[in-house]
Amino acid sequence: MEVIIQETAEKTALLAARVIAREVRVRPNLTLGLATGRTMEAVYRHLATMHRNEGLSFARCQTFNLDEFIGLPPDHPGSYHRYMTDHFFRHVDIPSSHIHIPNGMAADLAAECAAYEAAIKACGGIDLQLLGIGRDGHIGFNEPLSALQSRTREKALTPATRRQNASLFGGRWENVPARAITMGVGTILESRRCLLVATGEEKAFILSQALEGPITAWVTASALQLHPRCTVLVDEAAAEQLKGKDYYRWIFENEPEWAPFR
Ligand code: GLP
Repeated sequence: MEVIIQETAEKTALLAARVIAREVRVRPNLTLGLATGRTMEAVYRHLATMHRNEGLSFARCQTFNLDEFIGLPPDHPGSYHRYMTDHFFRHVDIPSSHIHIPNGMAADLAAECAAYEAAIKACGGIDLQLLGIGRDGHIGFNEPLSALQSRTREKALTPATRRQNASLFGGRWENVPARAITMGVGTILESRRCLLVATGEEKAFILSQALEGPITAWVTASALQLHPRCTVLVDEAAAEQLKGKDYYRWIFENEPEWAPFR
């Protein structure tokens, strides 16, 4: 794992977009794992700008989203289908047939989850998985105590997570669906590269637990410590409680891999 600290949330999002863009340019038929949440809005905004101004093309990419609420139609303002359309898909050139998001309206949810895993396999696995982190340390919707070998499945959301997602549901957490489909921690760990983005002081404590604390199902993002190629991009505010800050800063300033991004 490597941790890269940027001054601001905006710079962090821009760096995330540049890392993604570089991988897409090297391998235009990349299979991208995508995430939702406020943190990602700026990342998608930068990718859309690169598409418009620099000809960055996603036409040959396949995408797989991490998660979706159960029981919401795709056009519901709170659904992740709608989030992805509004923030990313309608601004770039990904063919709709290349877009995969779990169907939270499926009559047979277990079959939907199994089909999702099969679709990821059929595409050759995820090359680059974009991740945010929930305040309880979840990745995707892998809430505390999710098995670290879990696969795509139904998951009950914690009241705290439902509160964090309340803004698109009239600010009322009771309106946020209680269950979601999420890729499992094991599914995520099979991606060839993981890119976790976290910004803002409200992520500082959980980030220190996830990156520098023990690997535990209580904080599912801590499983990323097992991943052979995980890059974590954070702003100063989110990095506040990290013990290794000076070392992480040194890496960004000195490692040749980061030269094109400095
Ligand atoms: C939701 C998503 C997560 C995301 C998290 C963080 O819970 N399921 O994948 O990481 O939100 O969201 P934000 O960026 O708004 O803090």
